[in-house]
Parts: sequence; C-alpha cells; structure tokens
Amino acid sequence: MKNKILVTGGTGYIGSHTVVELQNSGYEVVIVDNLSNSRADVVDNIEKVSGIRPIFEQLDCLDYEGLNQLFTKHKGIKGIIHFAASKAVGESVQKPLLYYRNNLVSLINLLELMPKHGVEGIIFSSSCTVYGQPDILPVTESAPTKVAESPYGNTKQINEEIIRDYVKSGAPIRSVLLRYFNPIGAHPSALLGELPNGVPQNLIPFLTQTAIGIREQLSVFGDDYNTPDGSCIRDYINVVDLAKAHVIAMDRIMQQKQVEPVEVFNIGTGKGLSVLELIHAFENATGVKLNYKIVGRRAGDIEQVWANPDRANNVLGWKAESTIEDTLRSAWAWQQKLREEGIQ
Ligand code: UD1
Repeated sequence: MKNKILVTGGTGYIGSHTVVELQNSGYEVVIVDNLSNSRADVVDNIEKVSGIRPIFEQLDCLDYEGLNQLFTKHKGIKGIIHFAASKAVGESVQKPLLYYRNNLVSLINLLELMPKHGVEGIIFSSSCTVYGQPDILPVTESAPTKVAESPYGNTKQINEEIIRDYVKSGAPIRSVLLRYFNPIGAHPSALLGELPNGVPQNLIPFLTQTAIGIREQLSVFGDDYNTPDGSCIRDYINVVDLAKAHVIAMDRIMQQKQVEPVEVFNIGTGKGLSVLELIHAFENATGVKLNYKIVGRRAGDIEQVWANPDRANNVLGWKAESTIEDTLRSAWAWQQKLREEGIQ
C-alpha cells in the first residue's frame, strides 16, 4: 500500500476519476467533499469501479477546524489533491466574493494545516485559463499569464501564486500545479462522469444533452473567429488520462523527484480541435446526428488555445492516450446511463 492521500472534491467530475486511478495504483484515499455539486452515491460507484471503498467525509474546506480534526482522525495523510472549488465562469462574474472566498480560503486552510499534520505535498487543479489568449501556440508553461477574464479564472492564478509564495517563505511542502485544458468524457464503465447542475455551460454536456433530446439545439458560439473553420479551438483531454496525470504527479511528489519545490505542467493532448470539428467527430463516433446552429460569440471566450504538453510528456512521463472518438463515445455512454437511471 502506498501513502494516504486526501482528495478534496473527490466526488466531483475529475476528482472521482482521480480517486479510482489513485486506488488502482495502490494509494489509500480519503475524500472530503461538501456535496455542493456532486452526489454521495458517487462513492458507491468509485467502489464498483475500483473494488475499493474510499473513506468519505462530508465537509466543507472552508471549515478549518473540521479539516484540522479530519487530519487528526485520519492520521498519516501524506499528500493532498485539491479539486474542491466553485467552477462556473458565469456565476463567478455574478458572485465574485463567493468565488474568492470558496476558492482562496479553502486552499489557505489546507496549506496552513499541511505542516502541522506532516502533509508533504499538494497537487493543485489549475487551468489553461491562466494563459488567456496566448501569443504563441501551442502554449508552453513559460508563457506569461494574462489578466483573468473572470473571478473564477483569477482564483486559479491567485491560488498558484499563494502556493508559490508559501513555499518561498520556507514552508516544508512541495507542490505540483496541473494546468488542465478542456477535460471531457467519462469512465469507460459509464459509472462515473460529469453531472452538470442545471443547464450545462460547457460544450460536451450541452452537446450530449442535445443528442439525447433534453435540449432542442446546440448553439455554436461564433463562426467568425480567425481559425480555419471560424469556430473556437480547444484542446480536449480525456478525463481518465487527466486523472492518471495526477497519480504520476503524486508519485513524483512522494518520491521526492521534483527538481523544484513547485512545478507546473500543462495537461493536454497537444491537438487543437474546433467546435465544429468536435461536433462532427461526435456524429462520426456515435452515429447520432446533432441539431446545432451557429449563433453569436459568447462573451469572454478565448479564440484558440491548445497545449504544448512536452514537459508533461518528458518530465512526468505522462501522455494523453485516448482517441477523441473513444472519449466522445464515453461521454455519450454516460449520458445514456444517466437517462436509464432517470437522472438526466
Ligand atoms: C471554460 C473556462 C475555463 C474553465 C472551463 C471549465 C472560459 C473562457 N473558460 O472553458 O476557464 O476552466 O470552462 O468549466 O470561460 N461552446 C459552444 N456552445 C456551447 C458551449 C460551448 O459553442 O453551448 C464552445 C465555446 O465557445 C468554446 C468551446 O465550446 O469555444 C468550449 O467551451 P466550454 O466547454 O465552455 O469550455 P471553455 O470555455 O474552453
């Protein structure tokens, strides 16, 4: 058995897939989640997939004393993967203080408690949003960060800085910042996936909900961008591949292989796909025709961004493996499963 790891937000979309991969690789997992955007029965499905039931504590990471007690109760936690955060870009514009409080204070609580409880390392869920519209594509980790388009994006930048400053101050911790591109897809078992709250804002859940008839039509936000077909370009990364990157990063932290106490990696495929290309890939992969329409641009959208994942490939030894077709089929299987279970 490897070390004990705390996964905050472990019943969420990326968190649940990561818990499975951590357990598959021998880590013991304690999940903390306030269930604000996930369901308790995700723990049952994690157990079905991995054969191991993770420890689950329903707790908000804003609760410093609760977290303190959790570390005492589950002695020997050596690493943290911090997913728990508010993540709706639009909502963050409406409720900035909620976002700053949730996302910043949760991280600060964890950082403060780490030395006290002998926790050695933390992986932080960051985002390619920190690059804004990069000047050079594909974007590398050394590209400058740009002024954030939303309070949500700003919390990612500030949290990266908080970790750097804390380590610089001499705190006895190590960290890996993973900058995710656009995570999509679901577990191949169709037991885990994304459970959007209300009307989905992200492309894939809206697309699969349209395909199954929950939504009448998918809007493509703009076809007048400076891209080959005029629609925006993103780097869509399979969620299981993304989950595996966390396990490798945690191994690196635990085995003290880091060259610097804070390391940053892009987690993407290195391939940019336009919205229209993605729609057609979905139709080809599943045989389902999508009802879509080109509409105006969405405020705040970046025109095009995709990763240079060389650092993750060469330094971490991680590489995105799934094909886009398999990933889109997994998203579709998950949507059908939700329908079967009467959830969505
Ligand atoms: C957004 C955030 C990003 C965040 C991520 C996670 C911005 C600028 N970026 O990424 O910081 O980490 O969500 O939630 O807000 N699209 C459509 N129709 C739709 C939905 C989306 O055409 O109904 C297009 C968008 O214009 C975009 C692409 O699909 O070009 C992907 O959109 P989305 O899934 O929302 O992700 P991002 O905006 O890239």
